[in-house]
Amino acid sequence: MNNKSVKKKVLVMGSRGMLGQELVDIFKGDSDYNVTAWDFNNIDITDEVQTKEKISKLKPEIILNATGYNAVDLCEKDKAEFEKAKKLNGKAPGFLAKIAKKLDATLVHYSTDYVFDGMPDVMEPEGCGGSCGSCRLHEGFTPEIGFREDAITIPLQKYGKSKLMGEETVQRFGEKYYIIRLSKLFGKPAKSKTAKRSFFDVMLEVGKKNKEVKVVDEETSCFTYAPDLAKKTKEIIESGKPYGIYHVANSGACTWYEAVVELYKMAKIKTKVVPVSSDEFPRPAQRPYVSTLINTKLNPLRSYKLALREYLKQNKF
Ligand SMILES: NC(=O)c1ccc[n+]([C@@H]2O[C@H](COP(=O)([O-])OP(=O)(O)OC[C@H]3O[C@@H](n4cnc5c(N)ncnc54)[C@H](OP(=O)(O)O)[C@@H]3O)[C@@H](O)[C@H]2O)c1
Repeated sequence: MNNKSVKKKVLVMGSRGMLGQELVDIFKGDSDYNVTAWDFNNIDITDEVQTKEKISKLKPEIILNATGYNAVDLCEKDKAEFEKAKKLNGKAPGFLAKIAKKLDATLVHYSTDYVFDGMPDVMEPEGCGGSCGSCRLHEGFTPEIGFREDAITIPLQKYGKSKLMGEETVQRFGEKYYIIRLSKLFGKPAKSKTAKRSFFDVMLEVGKKNKEVKVVDEETSCFTYAPDLAKKTKEIIESGKPYGIYHVANSGACTWYEAVVELYKMAKIKTKVVPVSSDEFPRPAQRPYVSTLINTKLNPLRSYKLALREYLKQNKF
C-alpha cells in the first residue's frame, strides 16, 4: 500500500511514555500507517471537551491509549492523587471510547494485572482446592497459574480500582475496542519526565553499588517487554481479532527475586541476592501475591528471559 491517501491514520496518546514510544516506533516503521504522536503537552485527555475537539478534527481510524497514572503507592495514601488516578485511568478512557465510537475508530486501551487480587486464601480456599468450577472465587481462575481474561476482578488497592474503572468505562461507552492487560512493564526509559524507570534498570544500578541486595520473593506474575507488547498490539489490530479483553505478557511467571537472580546472571553482576518476604519492605498499597495473566486468545509471547537478554544487549548494560 504505497498510495499516501490510503494510509491508515493512527493516533498514539502518551507517546513519550515507556509503551507509547514503542507504539510510535512500530507503526512509524510501517508505511501503511500515518502516525500522530501526542503526549500531555499536546492534549490533556482528562479534559473531555478538548479531547473531543482535537480527536474529532484529526479523525484517526485507530486510537492507542498508552497514557497512565502509575504511582501505585502515592495514590493509595493521598486523596488528591487518587482523584488524579481516577480522572486519567478511570474516566478519560471513557471519553476516548465515546469519540472512537463516533468516528467508527478502533480503540486500544491498556490495563493491568492489578485488577486481580491473587491472594493465597483466594487461590486455595479450604475444601475446594481451586478446581470446583462452581464457587465464585474460582470462576475463570486456575489456581496454579493465574487469571484468565474473564476471571473475576477484585482490585486490592486504589490504583487497581482506578484501572478497573477505566476498563468499565471503555466497555460502557465503546464499541470497537481492545482492552489489553499487561504486567510489570520494562523497556527503554520513557522520554516523559513523570514516568517510572523499569524495575530491571533500578536493580542493575543497585547491583553495581552493593555487595548484597534483598529482593521480595513474592508477587508472582509475568514481565512485559514494551517492544513485544507494541508489536503484539499491531498484530491484534491487523489480524482483526474479536474486540474485547486480551492478556499480553512475556512467558515465564516469576517473583521479583527470581527475576533479579536471572538479571544478575545475564549482566554478570556478582552481587548476592537474598530472598525476603514483602513484610521487609512495607508499602502503602497492597500487591497481589500472584497475578499471572493467562492468555487464552493469542499466540504466546517469547519468554521474558529472551526479551531481557535482547534489552540488555541493545542498551549495552
Ligand atoms: N508500567 C507498568 O509496569 C505497567 C503495568 C501494568 C499496566 N500498565 C499500563 O500500561 C500503560 C502504559 O504505561 P507506561 O508505563 O508506558 O506509562 P508512562 O511511561 O508513565 O507514560 C504515560 C504517558 O502518559 C502521558 N500522560 C499523563 N497524563 C496525561 C494526560 N492527562 N493526557 C495525555 N497524556 C498524559 C504522560 O505524559 P507526561 O509524562 O508528559 O505527563 C506519559 O507520556 C498504562 O495504561 C499503564 O497503566 C503499566
